[in-house]
Parts: sequence; C-alpha cells; structure tokens
Amino acid sequence: MFSPTTYDWTDKRVAYDALVHDLTHLLGDERDLVANASQAAALVWHALPDLNWAGFYFFDGAELVVGPFQGLPACTRIALTRGVCGAAASRRESIVVPDVHAFPGHIACDSRSRSELVVPIVAGGALRGVFDMDSPTPARFDDADRIGVERLVAAFAAVTAWPAVLR
Ligand code: SME
Repeated sequence: MFSPTTYDWTDKRVAYDALVHDLTHLLGDERDLVANASQAAALVWHALPDLNWAGFYFFDGAELVVGPFQGLPACTRIALTRGVCGAAASRRESIVVPDVHAFPGHIACDSRSRSELVVPIVAGGALRGVFDMDSPTPARFDDADRIGVERLVAAFAAVTAWPAVLR
C-alpha cells in the first residue's frame, strides 16, 4: 500500500530530490507506458501543492493525445501548433507560463488554471509527448519547478519502454 509523503517545499531543490528518488522507487523496473505514466501523474498530484491538473499528453506522430492525468477531464487532442503544450512539444523546450491569459493561444481546459508548466518528453531522440501541470495560482511555477519536473520526466522516460509507433 502506498502512503503519501508530505514533502517540504521550503527548498524546492531538496523536495524534488526526494520526489525523483520516490518516483524511481515507485516505478522500479516496470517498463509499461500506461502504468508508469499513471503512477507518475498520481505521485506528482499528491506531492505538489496548489495544482488543478497534472498529467501527460503523448505524441502519436501527428498531434498530442491526452494520457494518464489527475484533475478535470481535459482536451483530448492538441495540435503541435496550438497551446502551451503544442509550443513545448514543437520547440522541445520546457515552458513556464506565469499568466496563462497572457500566453497567445493558451488552451483553457479548466477555467481555474492561472499558471502552467509544460515539459517535453524526448526519448531516444524522438518526441514522445509532454508532461503538463496547471495551477489556480498565478506564477505558481518557477525555474526550480522547471528543473525539478525535467528531472522527474527524465527519470520516467528512462525506465519506460517506448513503442515504435504509439498509436
Ligand atoms: N493549457 C494547455 C492545454 C492542456 S490543459 O491545460 C490540461 C495548453 O495550452 O496547451
């Protein structure tokens, strides 16, 4: 049985160290994509304060398709030319958005979202998707979150088996 840990976010670097360690332990040597993505989304959802959405969009070779997540039901498909997710995926670059209303093309899946962090998932040189987190608080995410979530995504991507064609 899983017992949720309370992380101390006073020092984000220390908290993300613990979270990366816990994610690595939770996934173990499991390689299944849906299993690992589900576990990672649930772990992050319970570990980080002040989120209203956390989860995955996977790249199907043409666009992003929603994967395991926590939060309200969201947009199912996102073109690479649309939204923060599309921008992070096409640039293969993490994007921290302090004010979603100021981001041109932001897609509002949940009207409570005020700030967002999207980290691309690249494995074996290929774009695999993005990990997206939304918060109801403006400027919820900073560079320490970006670095921490990039480490979480790297740990998840390294252990997971990526199919040659996702769908
Ligand atoms: N806001 C995202 C869409 C995904 S939801 O937030 C879950 C975007 O602009 O790409």
